[in-house]
Amino acid sequence: MGRLEGKVALITGAGSGIGRAGAIRFAREGAKVIVAEISREGGERTVAMAREKGGEATFVETDVTDAASVERAIAAGVAQYGRLDILYNNAGGSTAHDGPVTKVSLDEFWRTIKVDLFGTFACCKFGIPELIKAGGGAVINTTSYVALAGIKGRDAYTAAKGGVLALTRSLAANYAKHHVRVNAIAPGAIQTERVKRFMNADPRLGEMVGKHMLGLGEPDDIANMAVFLASDEARIITGAIFPVDSGWSAT
Ligand SMILES: NC(=O)c1ccc[n+]([C@@H]2O[C@H](COP(=O)([O-])OP(=O)(O)OC[C@H]3O[C@@H](n4cnc5c(N)ncnc54)[C@H](O)[C@@H]3O)[C@@H](O)[C@H]2O)c1
Repeated sequence: MGRLEGKVALITGAGSGIGRAGAIRFAREGAKVIVAEISREGGERTVAMAREKGGEATFVETDVTDAASVERAIAAGVAQYGRLDILYNNAGGSTAHDGPVTKVSLDEFWRTIKVDLFGTFACCKFGIPELIKAGGGAVINTTSYVALAGIKGRDAYTAAKGGVLALTRSLAANYAKHHVRVNAIAPGAIQTERVKRFMNADPRLGEMVGKHMLGLGEPDDIANMAVFLASDEARIITGAIFPVDSGWSAT
């Protein structure tokens, strides 16, 4: 029996990278997975990959920066599978346009705030009531190693991920009485296609790479932590931030 057997999970940004790995893994563990993704092509590909491995998944076109789109996606997922037990807020990411506050554009600041922070907020706003209706559940947010220590050159993204980190704790305090657990994963550099492009474009990232004591992570390393946090194995864990960063935050 899978570790998520009988559960329904919605994963945002599951059309590539870490979200895709999570969707495939959740489906293999027995969850019915709602792939809430802005890219139809990426989302449908993830669904096909999950089904090839014998899992159950469905794509719902979703823009997490648009509250109405999030509300529709959650309603569509619940209509399809009857309930929601797990909300995995993964959509987001930094870009090469970020920088120190005096250099980064306001557009880039609002872009990352909208996707990473507002997107998480909106999904919780419409998703947590469904978890409560299901008798409780798990929220997994995605922060980043950049929110755990000061790093150079990414002030906009760091602000957004710091917000996600703080929000995780306040949501945990608010919804524990409904048996809704809220935790966050803080990945180190994970070798998704996006991050590989990023690293190739900026050789200064070598210093940051060197701090990953056990080498850079893969999307499956994050999926492993997400499965645990989503499962009943984590039943008394809430309000916690888990670095999965190859020791980056320890130094
Ligand atoms: N890869 C890393 O090194 C790393 C490190 C720390 C944190 N993270 C975080 O992990 C998460 C996933 O990162 P990744 O590297 O897999 O990124 P990725 O770019 O590979 O995947 C992100 C997915 O989100 C989707 N997306 C973008 N905007 C969206 C929107 N408005 N609505 C819905 N979907 C949208 C994209 O289409 C894409 O499929 C992000 O929150 C990122 O900040 C990643």
